[in-house]
Amino acid sequence: MQLRPGELQLMQQLVRQLAGVSLDDSKGYLVEARLGPIAERSGCTNFNELYFKLRYGGEKVLEQQVVDAITTHETNFFRDGAPYDALQFKLLPEVIDARERQGQPKKLRIWSAACSTGQEPYCIGIVVHELLRDLKGWDVQILGTDISKGTIEIAERGVFADHEMARTARPQLMSKYFTRVDGGHRVVDAVRKMVTFRQLNLLQPMHGLGPFDIVFLRNVLIYFESEVRKDIARRVAETLLPHGWLVVGASENLLDAGPRFVPQTHCRATVYQPGLVPAGKR
Ligand SMILES: C[S@@+](CC[C@H](N)C(=O)[O-])C[C@H]1O[C@@H](n2cnc3c(N)ncnc32)[C@H](O)[C@@H]1O
Repeated sequence: MQLRPGELQLMQQLVRQLAGVSLDDSKGYLVEARLGPIAERSGCTNFNELYFKLRYGGEKVLEQQVVDAITTHETNFFRDGAPYDALQFKLLPEVIDARERQGQPKKLRIWSAACSTGQEPYCIGIVVHELLRDLKGWDVQILGTDISKGTIEIAERGVFADHEMARTARPQLMSKYFTRVDGGHRVVDAVRKMVTFRQLNLLQPMHGLGPFDIVFLRNVLIYFESEVRKDIARRVAETLLPHGWLVVGASENLLDAGPRFVPQTHCRATVYQPGLVPAGKR
C-alpha cells in the first residue's frame, strides 16, 4: 500500500500519539512496509482509513498491531558491553553499600524500561548472579517492560534461537546461563525467577512501579522528540531511590533534561544519579 499525499502526516501523528515515537519525513518507506500489510488485513484500502479506524474506532487489537509493527525492537545479549561492566563493577556494589549503610533490607529492584524481547533484563540478572553468586539472603526483583505485547510474550518465554544466542559479546556467560531445550536455549531458573515482565507504555503514568535501585532506559529515548524524552526521563527518575542509578544507551544523553541529570561515565557507560544532585541544584 502506498502513501497518498497527506497520509504520512496522519501516520506520524498517530504513531506519536500511540507510542510517543517520532517518525521524520524520510520514514514513509517504513510506514508503507510495516503498516501497509496491517492496514490491508484490517480491510482498509488506504492509510487514511487506517487512521480513522484507529482514531475513532476503539480498535485495541489493531492499535497494538500498529504499535508492535512500527516500533524497532533491535536488541542483543550484553548489547554494547559497557553498561553491564558499569552495573557489575560500580552500580551494584554502590547500591549494596548504600542499602547496608541505611540499614535497608537485602533487596535489589532493577527496571529494564524498554526491554524488547528480554535480552536486557536477563543479562542484568546474569550480572547480578555473577556478583552475588548464590544470592543467599538477597531478594532480587528485575522488571522488564515494553510497549510491545509481542516482544513481552517472547521475553516471558525466555527461550532464544541459536542466531540470537550468537549475537553477544559474552559467549562464555551465555553458555553458563542458558541450557538447550526444544526450539532453542532457555535461561537458567536461577536467573529466570528474578525477572518478571509486563506491558507498559512509557507515555503512561508509572505509579506503583518503583522504587528502583537501578533503571536501564536504553536505546528507546532516541525515538522520542525532545519534550517527550525529557518528560519520560523526569518521570523515570521519580521511580528511583535517592541512591538510584539511571543507565541510558550509548548514543543517548539527557543533557537537556534538567540539572538533576549530570552525566557520569563509568566503565565507558553513561549513567546518572538524579536523586543525589543537591536539592538546590535540581
Ligand atoms: C531498540 S529496542 C531497545 C531494547 C533494549 N533496551 C536494548 O537496548 O537493547 C526499543 C524498544 O523500545 C520500545 N518502545 C518504543 N516506544 C515505547 C514506549 N512508548 N513505551 C515503552 N516502550 C517503548 C520498543 O517496543 C522496543 O522494544
